[in-house]
Amino acid sequence: MKTVEKNYSPGLDGVIAAETKISVLDTVESQIIIRGYDLIDLSKKYTYLDIVNLLLLGQLPSKDEKVALENKLKANYAIPYEIIDIFKLLPKDTHPMDGLRTGISSLAGFDPKIDDRSFHTNLERAYKLLGSMPNIVANSYRVLNNQEVVEPDASLSYSANFYYMITGKKPTKTEEEIFDQSLILYSEHEMPNSTFTARVIASTQSDLYGALTGAVASLKGNLHGGANEAVMHMLLEAKTVEGFEKLLKSKLAKKEKIMGFGHRVYMKKMDPRALIMKQALRKLCDAKGDDLLYRMGEAGEAIMKEEKGLYPNLDYYAAPVYYMLGLPIELYTPIFFSSRTAGLCAHVIEQHENNRLFRPRVIYTGERHNVKQA
Ligand code: COA
Repeated sequence: MKTVEKNYSPGLDGVIAAETKISVLDTVESQIIIRGYDLIDLSKKYTYLDIVNLLLLGQLPSKDEKVALENKLKANYAIPYEIIDIFKLLPKDTHPMDGLRTGISSLAGFDPKIDDRSFHTNLERAYKLLGSMPNIVANSYRVLNNQEVVEPDASLSYSANFYYMITGKKPTKTEEEIFDQSLILYSEHEMPNSTFTARVIASTQSDLYGALTGAVASLKGNLHGGANEAVMHMLLEAKTVEGFEKLLKSKLAKKEKIMGFGHRVYMKKMDPRALIMKQALRKLCDAKGDDLLYRMGEAGEAIMKEEKGLYPNLDYYAAPVYYMLGLPIELYTPIFFSSRTAGLCAHVIEQHENNRLFRPRVIYTGERHNVKQA
């Protein structure tokens, strides 16, 4: 009992849960290292598909390898029509994250090699999931909102097709680049709750679909991926810079947590990904000749720094960027999940390749009773 108590850290704060070659948050250098590279540098020079290759295979692809990867994903763009039928059977007020969770979960039944956990089969499964994700996200949302189902357009890049399937419009070059960059920034982030969830599930030798289904449920929460949607609702509720300052101050006075600020690992530092999205927001505001959301963002940042010494995380600036891109607010978290699929698949594969079942202990704070004779 004594050893268990000594090792106890509520929320597993600071606990090392796994060895990994995939990524780490280097808090000393303030860098997010992905397979040896700085994620921020990658996000300025590469595309999402390069990062998918890097995450899954450990290296940036050559030109030919990238084409091969793109073709593999495109071959998986279609999803079984039965999954669209399942979306049609869901109650119309189903949350898009629950639609997404249902879609991913249903894919398992269509996998003839479901019990095969070999590296090669898991990799093919990861390509299937990544290829299907834009279709599942866009069409679960469309069906739930009585919109026409949209077919993927394989003539577009992965990100442009994703954007097109959601909005029904082909993105401009700037929109495509910024959307793609946001997918890179969301693609992998060491051991957040959802990645831990996926690895815990995978550690029982359960399959990739099950691990990702659990991860969607984890990412749905406001303290994790759900924060980007919550940020946008706050900005819309506030309407103006002054309104936003007032809203934040009144929330802080009520000791409420402000969505889009703070981070278990960074906490007192700026999330480097947030800065990239802030720059993207500037670009979009300039292109559209409307800088209200940028000014609101800066005003909120200043208040939180002054009042709480807290800095924005990625969700704080990704939310207004997605708004300026014309994406529906309810899809911000599903989009986050779709991009994170790359990192999650890499983690599940790594867990399957070098597994130790997760099974922690507890400190029992309940009572003990003697069972009396009946
Ligand atoms: N707004 C206001 N105060 C915050 C805060 C926020 N967003 N995040 C942390 N704090 C404060 C807490 O109130 C607490 O203060 P106290 O010590 O005076 O009670 C202190 O900072 C530590 O917070 P705690 O909740 O214990 O840290 P954590 O490691 O459990 O939380 C988060 C990390 C991300 C869950 C937390 O910062 C949060 O809820 N942020 C908002 C949700 C969000 O943006 N999530 C996306 C994360 S990428």
